[in-house]
Amino acid sequence: MEIRELLKKDHEKVKELLEKMSSGKLQEDALKTTFDEFKVALTSHSKAEEKVVYAKLKKEKEEETQEAGIEGEIEHGLVDQLLQVMARSRSKGSTRWEAYLKVIKDLLEHHIKEEESTVFTQLGEHFDATALQKMGEEMEQEKNKVMKAAA
Ligand SMILES: [Fe+2]
Ligand SMILES: [Fe+2]
Repeated sequence: MEIRELLKKDHEKVKELLEKMSSGKLQEDALKTTFDEFKVALTSHSKAEEKVVYAKLKKEKEEETQEAGIEGEIEHGLVDQLLQVMARSRSKGSTRWEAYLKVIKDLLEHHIKEEESTVFTQLGEHFDATALQKMGEEMEQEKNKVMKAAA
């Protein structure tokens, strides 16, 4: 699959899980299970994205392209901090936890929007169809590695 198509598919999944957790309809057990699913989906996506996409953008000559990669990485770092606190919490669904969920949701929605505009444009400008296809395959492999390591 072409890298942008794959990223988009992952983003849809992450957004869907965020909506599900924010619906207020989940009891604590279901919330826990959904959060675990969200954590795996997000972490495998982000780690693979850093290795396959951001690492390449950062190697490009143009400052604008490098910056897109660095900005993405910084946002991943922030999201990861929130994710760790949420994972450690023993009271998922508490008011405090819900507040974290709101912040991580806002941050991720912003992040995804920017990736699908700025990062996608950079990818299209710097890589041809064959390279984009190859990046998609690499992304798939990296994701599987991260998921295996987490299991
Ligand atoms: Fe992404
Ligand atoms: Fe990302």
